[in-house]
Amino acid sequence: MAFILETKDLTKQFGGLTAVDKTSLKLKEGGLRCILGPNGCGKTTLFNLISGCYKPTSGKIIFAGQDISGQPVHLINRAGIGRKFQIPSVFNSMTVEENLRVPSSSNWKPSLLRSKNSVPGNRQEILTLLNLLKLTEKTNELAGNLSHGEKQWLEIGMVMASKPRLMLLDEPTAGMTAAETNKTAQLIHQISIETGISVVVIEHDLNFVKKLASRVTVMYKGSIFREGNYEEIQEDKDVQSIYLGRKR
Ligand SMILES: Nc1ncnc2c1ncn2[C@@H]1O[C@H](COP(=O)(O)OP(=O)(O)O)[C@@H](O)[C@H]1O
Ligand SMILES: [Mg+2]
Repeated sequence: MAFILETKDLTKQFGGLTAVDKTSLKLKEGGLRCILGPNGCGKTTLFNLISGCYKPTSGKIIFAGQDISGQPVHLINRAGIGRKFQIPSVFNSMTVEENLRVPSSSNWKPSLLRSKNSVPGNRQEILTLLNLLKLTEKTNELAGNLSHGEKQWLEIGMVMASKPRLMLLDEPTAGMTAAETNKTAQLIHQISIETGISVVVIEHDLNFVKKLASRVTVMYKGSIFREGNYEEIQEDKDVQSIYLGRKR
């Protein structure tokens, strides 16, 4: 069985605090996984380790069969791991299409991107991506004029435009309305089915987790606490006591 991502006893300490504690996780190529857990349980730190922002204190990260533990961000990114951060960071003064062309251009400059003829990137791929993101009608709109939800979808598209094999999404529904949250779950589900990109999503909106219909890994105090589908996780008494019963 081919795993796109495997962490083995992955551990990160900050002084006396163990933020990620001997975490072992396996994700199949093309798989979709949701990581759920209370604030401060180590979810973002896990992404920081996988994407190379932090070096592990101990343990390993295997990506597509290669040990990438402790490699710098740019090499991990080049190897095929794309990441979306919690805060949207689209280029407000560029159009939606121009934003999507940024990652596919190796030596981009915002001023050059003003002219369609001077930009790299395959137009058909961009159109397909716009269609998937449901942003076709906004192709020539400045990103700064998009709604919060649309900006988040555009940013997912920007990560996809760099053609990752694995995409990490940290709380993609933060600040979204219920309708936008549902649409985001649908979009991520569709990406996972239609593109072959493996996706790991950090989330703590349970409605989203239910809609995503993926396998769920529950983290608690830096460790993996449970794994299962949404129904199993939701019915688990221990999960309820550490997470579901707790107000954010
Ligand atoms: N750079 C850092 N330096 C010190 N402590 C950190 C750092 N990053 C995260 N932490 C701590 O690690 C724990 C896990 O944080 P984080 O991974 O952001 O949690 P989550 O994303 O699950 O809310 C928290 O106690 C947080 O304060
Ligand atoms: Mg976080």
